[in-house]
Amino acid sequence: MQRWVIGAALAGAAFTAQAQGQVNVICSVQAEWCNTMATVYSKTTGVKVNITQKGSGEALAQLNAEKANPKTDLWFGGTGDTHLQAAEMGLTQEYKSPQLKDLHPWAVRQAEDAKYRTVGVYLGPLGFGFNKELLAKKKAAAPMSWADLLKPEFKGEIQMANPASSGTAYTVIATLVQIMGEDKAFDYLRAMNKNVSTYTRSGTAPVKAVARGETMVSISFVHDVTTEAVQGFPVDSSTPSEGTGAEIGSMSIVKFGPNGDNAKKFYEWALTPGGQQFGLAAKQFQLPSNKNVAKDPRVVDPARIKLINYDYAKYGASAERRRLISKWEKEVQDAR
Ligand code: G6P
Repeated sequence: MQRWVIGAALAGAAFTAQAQGQVNVICSVQAEWCNTMATVYSKTTGVKVNITQKGSGEALAQLNAEKANPKTDLWFGGTGDTHLQAAEMGLTQEYKSPQLKDLHPWAVRQAEDAKYRTVGVYLGPLGFGFNKELLAKKKAAAPMSWADLLKPEFKGEIQMANPASSGTAYTVIATLVQIMGEDKAFDYLRAMNKNVSTYTRSGTAPVKAVARGETMVSISFVHDVTTEAVQGFPVDSSTPSEGTGAEIGSMSIVKFGPNGDNAKKFYEWALTPGGQQFGLAAKQFQLPSNKNVAKDPRVVDPARIKLINYDYAKYGASAERRRLISKWEKEVQDAR
């Protein structure tokens, strides 16, 4: 009897999912957030959400590879520079949400910069993550500035991601270029190379290594450090005194995706305060783009950080992004 009831319930669910269809999402935030959204959305709408998780640079590469025959409907999250580049490359579709009026100005500007082929879904400043126990053991002070990362006590103790695959790492490079000017920024990156043990594929790998005591310092988004801290790891964050950049995490609808109507519905849901609360529910602490999402003290307040006047359009342009990444590969990565 019990078995029959479960079987009937599953058959019913399958019927609903089939009736409502599906939506294929590339998701560039952490897996916990992607999975929470997929589960809640499927349960409440009957639409099946197929998630593929990819870093920002890798997501862009996949959409470009699929261009002739797109399999993806929607791209959720990841740094905005890659979404701007996708827009410029004609991979994503123009769409003006009626909810734009409810979003913070930085999220709307992101949409305007892309001629409405993307939109901001969250904001997150860049900073450092550090392991408090490892620092205490070495009697080293926490890094408080970009200059501090060059100190000898951090030799082999810093991790950052690789900008070709990771939007986090590209944000580091674009931020340094804007603060120091390009020549000095590359001098700095070459000098810091000596202190970096590894350039990881994913943007969050360095802070996870810090959390587990494998390395002292990471260059990370501040909210990714908070995610580790709330799980009880001995980590804390700081933001550089010279100033820092921030990502505008974005969302785009893929042009000619197989489930275009469902992509639009998911997009609208993901902009509502209801949809945006699932970041926090999954212990992700970016600032949501909808002004009506309830505030949480663990979410970083951009007004309390020395943020540079980041030129998103310039550093999200295809030619500029490609040029800076290949320069980094040649002058920094290959010089190891
Ligand atoms: C994490 C952060 C996001 C960010 C993403 C970028 O998931 O929580 O805010 O957009 O990393 O990932 P990537 O691997 O491209 O650096």
